[in-house]
Amino acid sequence: MAEFKEANGIVDWLDQRLAIKNFIKVMMTEYWIPKKINFLWAMGVTLLVMFLVLFVSGLMLLMYYKPDTKLAFDSVNYTIMQEVAYGWLWRHIHAVAASVIFLVIYIHMFVGIYYGSYKRGREMIWISGMLLFMIFSAEAFSGYMLPWGQMSFWAAAVITNLFGGIPLIGADLVVWIRGNFIPADATLTRFFMLHVVLLPVVILALIALHFYTLRFPHVNNETGEVIDFDKEAEKYKAGNKKEAQVVSFWPDFLSKDIFVVCVFMIGFFYLVCFHFNFAMDPINFDPADSLKTPPHIYPEWYFLWSYEVLRGFFFSSDLGLIAFGIANVIFLLMPLLDRSKVVAPAHKRGGFFLWFWLLVADLIVLTIYGKLPPTGMNAYIGFVASVTFLALFALLPIITAAENKKVGGRS
Ligand code: HEM
Repeated sequence: MAEFKEANGIVDWLDQRLAIKNFIKVMMTEYWIPKKINFLWAMGVTLLVMFLVLFVSGLMLLMYYKPDTKLAFDSVNYTIMQEVAYGWLWRHIHAVAASVIFLVIYIHMFVGIYYGSYKRGREMIWISGMLLFMIFSAEAFSGYMLPWGQMSFWAAAVITNLFGGIPLIGADLVVWIRGNFIPADATLTRFFMLHVVLLPVVILALIALHFYTLRFPHVNNETGEVIDFDKEAEKYKAGNKKEAQVVSFWPDFLSKDIFVVCVFMIGFFYLVCFHFNFAMDPINFDPADSLKTPPHIYPEWYFLWSYEVLRGFFFSSDLGLIAFGIANVIFLLMPLLDRSKVVAPAHKRGGFFLWFWLLVADLIVLTIYGKLPPTGMNAYIGFVASVTFLALFALLPIITAAENKKVGGRS
């Protein structure tokens, strides 16, 4: 057995058993972050905090929620919202956090795209991030079903029905996913299991993977320049902190991140207390009714762009489904589609800069039209925006390959 000396305090006691000092050194005080970054690099830690907020508020709701189609609606709308002390507050926190986390995810993703943070050794960071995005989407979808209101039921019906478009097995697959011919008790209980156990466990594992993938390539910086982290770390450790191009994760980077998170939380609690309604659809305050289709079914705001790509091809549901499938995986392929060797902010990359802002504008148009009824002019605008979305990704390899010629293939 290893020899243990008498510990001279709790830290020493833990250090002898868990090597916590070494762990803190490797993960925090000697994990190096470039100096040239801005507040947008605080989005990752903001996401982590928001996930914790969702986790804790979800635990609170779980104590009174009933996963049964006969009881679910009342357990949320009466027990939690009206009977349990501060139940309304935990529900508002959970609903607003679920909505806001997607805004932060989109900002985080588009910062990565703008600065080319998915290239030159950072591909695995991007892939693990996109996997997180996909699982988060499934988490949000399964959570939306739980109050078993009208939108819960009909969104579940529409989305599970999409699998019916898969050739040969589609129809059987829909029944298999629902556990019934229409969304029913079996559907609710399996999505409840996904929402409270399986998906959160996968998310935790993916967050750990995401952090691990960051460890070796290190985060990118505002200029995209290559940094010799070992050399710069030596300067920092020698006390030459001004000259070093890096700072430590803790206390330097994280203390600034915590400041950004605090400002963010002020805005977050303002929404929770005064504008929580934006995160809760009024139609979902009616109990689910399989015989009464709402006049207009739409998902939460963060899925509207892909929903509009699905509806955009209004003349062919097959084409719509294919486009929807592409829209859901295309961002994962960014490291492949961007053929340029240049890692630099978009404003230094000519055509890519235009491409980036066209994509953002197109996604905003898709989001706006995704909420409107797909009739008359709306259907055509949706169609043009959907085609533009696909065309932008088809053009990306051409635009970015041209960049290599301009810089003579230098990275
Ligand atoms: C809950 C979800 C997520 C958490 C907790 C998280 C956390 C983080 C953290 C802490 C960082 C380092 C600091 C920073 O750049 O902000 C980071 C970097 C990064 N994340 Fe995420 N992230 C999440 C989701 C995503 C998603 C959806 C993507 C999109 C694909 C993504 C892509 C990236 C990239 C490319 C970087 C590197 C940025 C750089 O090198 O400058 N992450 N993430």
